[in-house]
Amino acid sequence: MGDRIGRVCVIGAGVMGAGIAAQVANAGVPVLLLDVAGEGPDRSAIAREAVARMVKAEPAPFMSKQAAGLVEIGNIEDDLTKVALCDWIVEAVVERLDVKQSLYARLETVRRPGSAISSNTSTIPLAKLVEGRSEAFVADFLITHFFNPPRYMRLLEVVSGPKTRPEVAAKVEAFADRAMGKRIVHAKDRPGFIANRIGTYWIQVAVNAAMDLGLTVEEADAIGGRPMGVPKTGIFGLIDLVGLDLMPLLQKSLGSSLAPDDPFHASLRTLQLVEKMIAEGHIGRKGKGGFYRINREKGGVRE
Ligand code: NAI
Repeated sequence: MGDRIGRVCVIGAGVMGAGIAAQVANAGVPVLLLDVAGEGPDRSAIAREAVARMVKAEPAPFMSKQAAGLVEIGNIEDDLTKVALCDWIVEAVVERLDVKQSLYARLETVRRPGSAISSNTSTIPLAKLVEGRSEAFVADFLITHFFNPPRYMRLLEVVSGPKTRPEVAAKVEAFADRAMGKRIVHAKDRPGFIANRIGTYWIQVAVNAAMDLGLTVEEADAIGGRPMGVPKTGIFGLIDLVGLDLMPLLQKSLGSSLAPDDPFHASLRTLQLVEKMIAEGHIGRKGKGGFYRINREKGGVRE
């Protein structure tokens, strides 16, 4: 096993995967970016559009044009065998255990033994992710939880399992530190780890309070923005940035792992509102806007 990461694969070209790939490419390292196969003639359209979005991001590009030249795009139906050329595979697909597990089963047959593989999951314990996988896969597996947007958030939460080889974790951490400028926090393999065990609950409590007090989102974010340490977006703006569609997945995933009397469950009052907004297509900035009608095509300009 080489101890150098010279080529990375990111699977899932959504909010996080695109941002992680951009950061790797900005460091001058080649990246293979894969998503599901599109239904149109361009089967790699999702990854292609993700790269274009990173280059066009406002107010500052997330990836230079030069770095974009280091990104090879593809889809998991036609290009999965190319992961064998990669030293680190980062999984950033939708927050669903079944989807992640079936992807790992496929990766097990094509990846190069010794290559590191990590999940960007927000809430799912490592022990659940690797259920049914071979010993060799489990030895190369860890969680690397990046924060949104990866370009600007320096924190990286890392979870190693009892069977993760220390050399694999060390290789990934050295790359994240030196090439990507991350500051690493080691978390235990608990539901939500550190950040989302606290953060998901805290966001819900803040939203509940705003609704009980009858505040507008602007008023709530004026209070819950700079004064509470979320200066750029405020709390409702943060939900728009994360993606409203991710919220119920996080809440259900985390909730399913916690004790029945955990206060987290009582904080889920906002779930219905979020689900109604998702049904209407308001999934946040990546869609047609969320609590704020800002989307990425409008470059952050409010309607
Ligand atoms: P997203 O919904 O923006 O993107 C997910 C992408 O995965 C989509 O492009 C989808 O087509 C693709 N995908 C789904 N199944 C796939 C498969 N089997 N193979 C390849 N691609 C597949 O989701 P987002 O927000 O980027 O989240 C991805 C992961 O990162 C989740 O585990 C989430 O919990 C985690 N995360 C999200 C953060 C956020 O702020 N949005 C922050 C930190 C972690």
